Amino acid sequence: MRAVPIYSHGDLNVLRYEQDFPTPIPNPSEILIRVKYCGLNHLDIWTRLGIPGITIGFPHICGSDIVGSVEEEYAEIPKGSRVLVYPGICCNDCDNCRNGTETLCRDFSIIGGLSKYNGGYAEYVTVPKTNIISLPREISDEQAATLSISYLTAWNIIKKLHLKENDTVLIYGASGGLGMAMIQISKALGIRTISTISDDSKLNFAYDIGSDYVINRKKKEIALEIEKITRGIGVDAVVDNAGQKTLNTSINSVRKGGKIALCGTTSGSEANFQIRTFYSKQIQLFGILIGSKLELLELINFVNEKNIVPKIDSVLPLAQVRQAHDKLEKGEQQGKILIKI
Ligand SMILES: NC(=O)c1ccc[n+]([C@@H]2O[C@H](COP(=O)([O-])OP(=O)(O)OC[C@H]3O[C@@H](n4cnc5c(N)ncnc54)[C@H](OP(=O)(O)O)[C@@H]3O)[C@@H](O)[C@H]2O)c1
Ligand SMILES: [Zn+2]
Repeated sequence: MRAVPIYSHGDLNVLRYEQDFPTPIPNPSEILIRVKYCGLNHLDIWTRLGIPGITIGFPHICGSDIVGSVEEEYAEIPKGSRVLVYPGICCNDCDNCRNGTETLCRDFSIIGGLSKYNGGYAEYVTVPKTNIISLPREISDEQAATLSISYLTAWNIIKKLHLKENDTVLIYGASGGLGMAMIQISKALGIRTISTISDDSKLNFAYDIGSDYVINRKKKEIALEIEKITRGIGVDAVVDNAGQKTLNTSINSVRKGGKIALCGTTSGSEANFQIRTFYSKQIQLFGILIGSKLELLELINFVNEKNIVPKIDSVLPLAQVRQAHDKLEKGEQQGKILIKI
């Protein structure tokens, strides 16, 4: 089959387009999927680059946002049906797995991420049968290929932080996957959003998807802008997916008693922060890791009901995965980049 495996971690050059990669054979608990689209996430870059202390086998195929059709019937899902893959892998046997908190399972990992499961940069992929979700007719393949990482994480953040109508939330990276997902879902729930961009060329995009305020982080000091917008009170919550360079801004921007969802490391993974400010403001910090399969099912219904249509930056063929990674790594995208198989 055609696929883009990596044989080691590294720069863009480790992504190798191949015509004759072996087609996977599912074991009895798995199912073969013919991949139609694979959405890109920043996770794909981390997986390609590797994370110290996490070892995976090679060759490995990245890509966690998988949409395709099943090559055999399973449960009530007939052969050929359109499916979305829940990307979380867990033991299915511990209390967390039984209670719908499988992201807390000791064995939790992500298909196509730094796990033993290959992902969607390929014509075919095998996944555990229990990971497939039948797609409703109303949700297109392209739309579906954005949901299972960015939108699922955003959905989980809104639930875990109990964000509600009229709350104000600061969101970094309006043009990125998680940023866009947070803005669109928040809008649908009446949550006010203040988002950031790094270039004015992204301004229209950020407003189009529903931001109430947009701050160009290269031109303005975010915390000062937040102070002005919120009349000195601060935001109810911050979705901090940038990490190292933003954590202190998040602490300074959130109101007393506010919440921070720490969920990404786009700008680096180690941070010094002002502990005294943190506890004096009685901030609550939440670590967030995607969401459960049950939450993905809830999200699909929500997206369908509210008619949330993610913006697609571009759709590239499998042979251009390198170009897709390059664009994402440079932060040039406005919305999701999809690979069409
Ligand atoms: N915890 C989870 O389960 C989970 C799930 C999804 C994603 N994530 C993490 O969240 C992050 C974003 O993921 P993604 O897939 O949405 O990535 P993405 O599409 O590449 O978007 C990242 C965005 O971050 C913005 N950015 C870069 N540097 C920044 C900085 N110093 N300050 C503020 N914004 C900055 C960029 O926009 P501008 O350049 O315009 O500012 C870019 O749009 C990644 O670190 C990813 O690993 C975690
Ligand atoms: Zn488990």
